[in-house]
Amino acid sequence: MRKLRLAVLISGRGSNLQSLIKACADPEFPAEIALVLSNKTDASGLEKAAKAGIATAIVSHTGFPNRADFDAEIDTVIRAHHPDLVCLAGFMRLLGATFVEAWHDRLINIHPALLPSFKGANAIGDALAAGVKVTGCTLHFVRAAMDSGPIIAQTAVPVHPGDDEAQLSARIRQAEHEIYPRAVRLIAEGRVRVIDEKTEIDDPK
Ligand code: GRF
Repeated sequence: MRKLRLAVLISGRGSNLQSLIKACADPEFPAEIALVLSNKTDASGLEKAAKAGIATAIVSHTGFPNRADFDAEIDTVIRAHHPDLVCLAGFMRLLGATFVEAWHDRLINIHPALLPSFKGANAIGDALAAGVKVTGCTLHFVRAAMDSGPIIAQTAVPVHPGDDEAQLSARIRQAEHEIYPRAVRLIAEGRVRVIDEKTEIDDPK
């Protein structure tokens, strides 16, 4: 079986990366991680990758005069590892349209809300502030507009009375760790098609 090759882009803790590492450790899982790239030198996810024997790269955005040059450099580094799919997993840089189009339908992201609600970097705080009783997480193909693109999978997560941001984040993260590997599996098995900017999924479950 030829496995789908993943490049995982991170900026921090890398708990979603860890869930992918765990899934890929199963010989039956149809994907493997070819590269973990971070824009932050101190991202603890880099240690998780190294521990699993995965190639890592650091491309610090601070070393580039503009976004286009940064995007071009990460594109070069990513392509050197020949991935089929680029997985954003807590990568806290906006990617420009050129990069996003170059990876059309081969670039996915996990967002800690039920998109299209609560886009942006403060999705969990915004959900708490809005007083919603249910929020969740979304795995989607990436388009140039922030936190948009065809939705592959979503999980609803309850907001409990008195939740603070840390408690709600932890609950959402658990759901993320389940849907990220599941969505990667569906893509690797060729079960996900994008038609008219919506996904059609042939999910045996
Ligand atoms: C996750 O909550 C994800 O939804 C968001 O960034 C966070 C990354 O967490 N995009 P981790 O680095 O995977 O632990």
